[in-house]
Amino acid sequence: MEKQKPLIIANWKMKLGVPESRDLANKLKGKSSPNYNLVVCPSFVSLTEVAKVLKTSKVKLGAQDCFWEKQGSYTGEVSATYLKEVGCDYVIIGHSERRQYIGETDTMVNKKIDMALQSGLIPILCVGETFDQKVSGSRDTVLINQVTRALESINIAIDEKIIIAYEPVWAIGSGQSPDPVDIWNAHQVIRQSLFDIFPATIVKNSISIIYGGSVSANNIASFLNLDNTQGVLVGTASFEYGTFEQLLRAVNK
Ligand code: PGA
Repeated sequence: MEKQKPLIIANWKMKLGVPESRDLANKLKGKSSPNYNLVVCPSFVSLTEVAKVLKTSKVKLGAQDCFWEKQGSYTGEVSATYLKEVGCDYVIIGHSERRQYIGETDTMVNKKIDMALQSGLIPILCVGETFDQKVSGSRDTVLINQVTRALESINIAIDEKIIIAYEPVWAIGSGQSPDPVDIWNAHQVIRQSLFDIFPATIVKNSISIIYGGSVSANNIASFLNLDNTQGVLVGTASFEYGTFEQLLRAVNK
């Protein structure tokens, strides 16, 4: 598998308000590097301000969710079209925190992926097993089901891209992460299920698999060294400039 420049995606969750997001974006706007592509995903209300800051930067903008309809009477929801309008290129879909706290289902995730692509956004589909699923040995089944249901009937045009983030639920925000060998195996399971859904050229050229869950300056290299891992999704280690800068430095080494 050809190794690409790794993608580093910062998920700011509901951790930073507008002034804090603007501040952090200002510090990060010059942090592009020949060694990685950087994407930041602030909360909805911070997107416009962060977009202004990143206007001339190589750092890209992403949102943390979108709705599955383009427009209509859906109080509180945010259209993928609006996200594109404010300057987003990426959107996280199906994060386990949304599955857990908002009750997001595979069917919703599937419709959101479709809408994201239709709106010209690159979806970052999150999948991963819970601790109980890991212990009971059902990780692979969970991954295959999540990937298959999320991508059912999705058409990926030659110029479109999808990113799949393998994020074990038990690793998120816990300071624990799987052994790199286990991540490699999980990514192979995901990749294999993609070959059952899409033509081989699409799997090879249009879909990237990345890892997320307690990624830090100390462990990032061990994930990026895996030959089937094209980037990372970072939460906690991205909320504060000093910590995140260390992580970026670890990639530049
Ligand atoms: P974490 O979060 O880095 O804090 O584990 C990752 C994520 O939720 O995307």
